[in-house]
Amino acid sequence: MANPPAASVPALPPAAAPGDPLARVDTPSLVLDLDAFESNLRQMQAWADRHGVALRPHAKAHKCPEIARRQLALGARGICCQKVSEALPFVAAGIDDVHISNEVVGAAKLALLAQLARAARVSVCVDDAGNLADISAAMARAQAQVEVLVELDVGQGRCGVPDAAAAVALARQAQALPGVTFGGLQAYHGSVQHVRGHAERAAVAARAAQAAAECARQLRAAGIPCDRITGAGTGSAEFDAASGVYTEMQAGSYAFMDGDYGANAWSGPLAFRHSLFLLATVMSMPAPGRAVVDAGLKSTTIECGLPQVAGGAGLQYAAANDEHGVLKVAADAALRLGDTLLLIPAHVDPTFNLHDSLVAYRDGVVEGVWDISARGLSR
Ligand SMILES: Cc1ncc(COP(=O)(O)O)c(C=O)c1O
Repeated sequence: MANPPAASVPALPPAAAPGDPLARVDTPSLVLDLDAFESNLRQMQAWADRHGVALRPHAKAHKCPEIARRQLALGARGICCQKVSEALPFVAAGIDDVHISNEVVGAAKLALLAQLARAARVSVCVDDAGNLADISAAMARAQAQVEVLVELDVGQGRCGVPDAAAAVALARQAQALPGVTFGGLQAYHGSVQHVRGHAERAAVAARAAQAAAECARQLRAAGIPCDRITGAGTGSAEFDAASGVYTEMQAGSYAFMDGDYGANAWSGPLAFRHSLFLLATVMSMPAPGRAVVDAGLKSTTIECGLPQVAGGAGLQYAAANDEHGVLKVAADAALRLGDTLLLIPAHVDPTFNLHDSLVAYRDGVVEGVWDISARGLSR
């Protein structure tokens, strides 16, 4: 007997469509509670406005142009990206003011940076004289102009010049070169963000702000204007905005929160809520006390800890395999095969980078499915 004709390979349908109930979204899916998300956006923008500083949210947190558009609509000055390639889908989506909050090194990247600078207002960090000369040459070749911010190491021990004298030297060099304009300082302190205690975090942030202020003072004393001092993440924004030193805040995770930020003490005026979840399905309940969900390492990263089960009394996400999450289930927990659970990722940025789309919902009903267009763009 002849074989039946081969059926065509089905296309993967989208995980959800507007109007779907959340419980019907295909899993594992990254989902966004719009009420919590919008409350987070409004709070941070209001905090920035109240202190007269610009908010330039970091798009590396979400890599999603629709989210950036919503932040800009509420008053954000522009966005930050960490890589030149990451900025491309945002500029293509019409966002015309991007700060690359990072050093950019290498001919291919500088050529791309120059093209980007012809399409949008772009600024970039520098901490090295040779790199600054290379940026200038790449800009001049492309007849482009970029603003450079000298990155000052205010305590993190990552990139950045170590002191004000080095910052003054680089700023002077920038003033003398074609294709670049000296714009000010980046003084971001990554390690302050997750100092757990509120008072301890305030103290570390204050030391970073003092270092930035002293550097700006020395620039001005050398006759170099320093109008822009950018920095601040979610954990330090409360203090940095009120410091009188920073003119711009780069926070990103505040829009979503995650397990790591949830572990900080938040006794100040900002009360961000978890808005980002990983929706997972219970796919096996092979033994008493154990359930398995369909979301593992390919859906969430665990360098900051395992995900938590939102509202999941008696449920503990105990181990992550590639495509499985093993839960410990208390004897009195009501859980059935096929149930869906909302997991709180421990670290939003790399978790977004694992997903192509984000399902936005309100009151349990899907409102939209948004592309995470910069996913994977880390060149
Ligand atoms: C340079 C820079 N700015 C801002 C941020 C945003 O921080 P967060 O997402 O913690 O608010 C980061 C995060 O790593 C960063 O590296």
